[in-house]
Amino acid sequence: MALNHAVASAPTKLILFGEHFVVYGTPGIAIPISPRNYVTANRLEGGPSLHLTGVMGDAVFEPGGRIAGDLSLGMFGAAYHFLNEKGIAKNGLFKADVKLDRRCKGIGNSSSVGAALGLAVARASGKRLLKEEVFECAQQVDGVAHGGRPSGIDARTVVEGKPQIFRRLFSPPGFEFRQTGVLLPTGFCLVVIDTFRGKKSTTRELVERFGQTVGAGGLPETLSDDARARICAPYATIYDKAAGLLSKGTPDCAKSIGELMNENHLLLSERGVSTDEIEVLRTGCLKAGALGMKISGAGGEGGAVIAFVSEKKLRGVEAIAKDLGFVCFVVEIAKQGAVLEK
Ligand code: MEV
Repeated sequence: MALNHAVASAPTKLILFGEHFVVYGTPGIAIPISPRNYVTANRLEGGPSLHLTGVMGDAVFEPGGRIAGDLSLGMFGAAYHFLNEKGIAKNGLFKADVKLDRRCKGIGNSSSVGAALGLAVARASGKRLLKEEVFECAQQVDGVAHGGRPSGIDARTVVEGKPQIFRRLFSPPGFEFRQTGVLLPTGFCLVVIDTFRGKKSTTRELVERFGQTVGAGGLPETLSDDARARICAPYATIYDKAAGLLSKGTPDCAKSIGELMNENHLLLSERGVSTDEIEVLRTGCLKAGALGMKISGAGGEGGAVIAFVSEKKLRGVEAIAKDLGFVCFVVEIAKQGAVLEK
């Protein structure tokens, strides 16, 4: 019999501009999106431990850091550790069932589940987390998933539930973020194409690969301001133009938004985080009328690609993605961040 019960949910996210560069301190633009994840937490007799179940797999976490079951879920041990450090969930047996809306890499599932997990388990142990604590919980999960270099853009976007301009700060360390009015021109939409076909690169590998390609030579925080600025420079003009166009959102902006997405993709591809399959997909969809096609999130094998396309050309773009064996789905900008459900 459950002693206490709580349900929490969080949206997923898309990075429209700036992934990878944002790790080195440039501003990124991200939106929360409609696929929404739910975590149901029950407090039971026994423990102390956290049992995670759901489509992602099953794992058991203990306060000392021991994990049993599906080790690919190890990142969620960071959420449990965070709650324990706060004196929450330390003495009970918690079961948390995760309902994942879309099993797609690149849409921020780790931070989304991390945020909802923190909220639900805390509530099931009779506590409430402040928004900054929910962010920290999701960020700790991404800390593991991204190999110790999360910029914070994913966690911030899913927690706030509003389009964000986000920047990681280094001296002193911190984050700068503000809500921004991202308006997609009327008659245009964003399609996520999940390029998973059996193999997935991890975000950690991709963040490391990007770092190697740009010759970072160490974690972003160990670099000089000049070294980070040199890494970010090629992307800077894309950001400036994109922020202006997205805040206007009139139909005459659509072509330029698409072009900027393509430019941003090229920078990412040159830095080793695209794949041959993604390039074939892009060529086909651009030919079918998509205005912009770029990876969103870390990229690599099995990562998400976004197509910016008019509603008129949508069918053609979807057909190309499906012919290549990929799942695709149109997304809306979500209206709510991470919350406890009634
Ligand atoms: C992953 O969704 C986005 C990256 O820029 C990593 C990060 O910002 O932490 C690749």
